[in-house]
Amino acid sequence: MRSRQVMGLLLGTAVLAMTAWGTTRQSLHAEDAKAGKPGQESVARGRRTAMMLDEVYKNAIVLITDKYVHDEEDFPAGSAAVVLFDRVTKGGSHAVRLIDATGKPYDEDNVAKDEFEKAAVSKLKAGAETVEQVVQQGDKWNLRVMTPVPVVMKKCVMCHAHYADAKKGEPIGAISYTIPLD
Ligand code: HEC
Repeated sequence: MRSRQVMGLLLGTAVLAMTAWGTTRQSLHAEDAKAGKPGQESVARGRRTAMMLDEVYKNAIVLITDKYVHDEEDFPAGSAAVVLFDRVTKGGSHAVRLIDATGKPYDEDNVAKDEFEKAAVSKLKAGAETVEQVVQQGDKWNLRVMTPVPVVMKKCVMCHAHYADAKKGEPIGAISYTIPLD
């Protein structure tokens, strides 16, 4: 009788302990998710960073095309951007890609690859100024941003002849950013 009581008590305690452990784990988990998800301020900072980079990169591409590219034999700003973006991405501060939005890329690697990029190309072609999404990758959060690349100069058509067929105002390419959020 006594040993049965002891057993019952032990079992009861064990069940209680397990329930408490489960609840703690659950609430810890919920708090983790809450603490991990970047707030509005963090997203706004990521957006500002993306827009700042976008301005620098686009000005550099246009400047190089304007001042250094005179004929089809010259090293194109597009190629310079691809090399620069690869190196910057390897550096790890953010990831960036130059991609085609016409269906006829020079290099077949320069196309929308994942779901975000594919959907964003359609939205940019339909007139969106930028497209963004907060995404979780492992235990990290990133802001994905895509901005349009228009045909800014006649010179672009020298190498990308089909840009001449682009509808007025429709982007022929896009820059895809992945900015880490804190
Ligand atoms: C001298 C030739 C030349 C000129 C001028 C030129 N590009 Fe390019 N562009 C290229 C080449 C070559 C690539 C492929 C780069 C690579 O993958 O290394 C490229 C790549 C691109 C890409 C990535 C998609 C793709 O087709 O591979 C975009 C977008 C782009 N260029 C836009 C422009 C814009 C906008 C201009 C005008 C400001 C321009 N290019 C001017 C030769 C040129």
